[in-house]
Amino acid sequence: MTADTGNSRALRSAILHCPAKATPDDPCIEYIADGVLWIDNGLIKACGPAAQIVPMLPGSVAVEHYPGKLLMPGFLDLHVHYPQFEMMAAYGDQLLDWLNRYTFPTEMRYTDYAYARRQAEGFLDQLIANGTTTALVFATSSVSSVEAFFEAAFARNLRMLSGKVLMDRHAPEPLCDTAESAYADSEALIKRWQAKGRLGYAITPRFAPTSSEAQLEAAGALRKAYPDTYVHTHLAENRNEVAWVAELFPERRSYLDVYDHFGLMDSRSIFAHGIYLNDSDLKRLSQCRATLCHCPSSNLFLGSGLFPLKRALNAGIQVALGTDVGAGTSLSMLRTLGDAYKVQQLLGEQLAPSLGLYLLTLGAARSLGVDRKIGNFEPGKEADLVLIDPLATDELAARVEYNTGPESLLFALSILGDNRCINRVWVMGEPVHPATPSDCPAQL
Ligand code: GUN
Ligand code: ZN
Repeated sequence: MTADTGNSRALRSAILHCPAKATPDDPCIEYIADGVLWIDNGLIKACGPAAQIVPMLPGSVAVEHYPGKLLMPGFLDLHVHYPQFEMMAAYGDQLLDWLNRYTFPTEMRYTDYAYARRQAEGFLDQLIANGTTTALVFATSSVSSVEAFFEAAFARNLRMLSGKVLMDRHAPEPLCDTAESAYADSEALIKRWQAKGRLGYAITPRFAPTSSEAQLEAAGALRKAYPDTYVHTHLAENRNEVAWVAELFPERRSYLDVYDHFGLMDSRSIFAHGIYLNDSDLKRLSQCRATLCHCPSSNLFLGSGLFPLKRALNAGIQVALGTDVGAGTSLSMLRTLGDAYKVQQLLGEQLAPSLGLYLLTLGAARSLGVDRKIGNFEPGKEADLVLIDPLATDELAARVEYNTGPESLLFALSILGDNRCINRVWVMGEPVHPATPSDCPAQL
């Protein structure tokens, strides 16, 4: 083992993560009851039982001990709208009316950079407080909204992805761009932000109904011109939406085929929802190694439908989880996992806790192609971590005697847990939550 670089820390607690061999079919987990994670210069240097790692540590490295807590990789939220954090719990409508009545008016505020920056900072504070350290984030159609988000994420050294929303029709005029301005503005943002720090750029047509064919063509051209970008959009979320897309694009075989036709489908495409897809759509998604992002809280809140998770996984499709705030009603990925479990129950299926951990961490990192950087505790990865307090609430504390192992605990956390369980968060090995820790850890 080489000497540390002088910027080391070691965290001791129970440890839970998915090893590299984990797959959706066999989402095995590794649990270390008394573990140590050694971090050097923001990267994981070693992870293992305390009895093995502690003797390897240079004398200069103090061990921060968190007895009774659980260390996990930071969570990934692969579909969330930062400008909608302020409009969660909007009453009464399903998707298309909800967009017109609540969402579009809210998003108009984000042309004001100062406002957008304030909101982006508040959103990131809350994301971190929920243990989410990487997210694929919708901004709005205004360039200011994207600048504000990237500036805020860059200053915090976060691994985040976002992009300008493209929409040139079927939305209020102040939110609409054009095919040409969408291309030019996105290109300027890509040049400024793609791969800056830990940031990534996602080409973001809102959904097929709000983009003309010319704009979707421009989006496909952008994707081709900038191979390191992603595509992030909505797909087949709501029955009326699907029927509208069929009317707007009569020559396309399906909703998915609209995106496919315009060159927006490959292994760097993340499609939120995908509830209403046919077998040939599933086959095509699998062939392209694209990702479907299941957003259970949103699907329940808007009454959109029940995502057939097993059918998607059986078709070999990569699946991730997203909060989809503000149609989703919480930034907590623990809650989101609990909602995903309940949706599967309504379909007569189960979602095993080990698969849940995979979807929140390593699986999502694989969807983004960043699993060499984040997603578990393999040496060399970036130390984005969350420390869970399994006794944070009265309900969890009461449940503890029924915990018969790590899977049982994980399940309890997904059903009963939320941001109250997020005790601490580190980004690239640096503590970021709570902002000023009040209880100093014991030093060994
Ligand atoms: N489809 C198009 N725009 C949106 C949005 O903002 N939220 C959700 N849930 N679906 C969408
Ligand atoms: Zn969404």
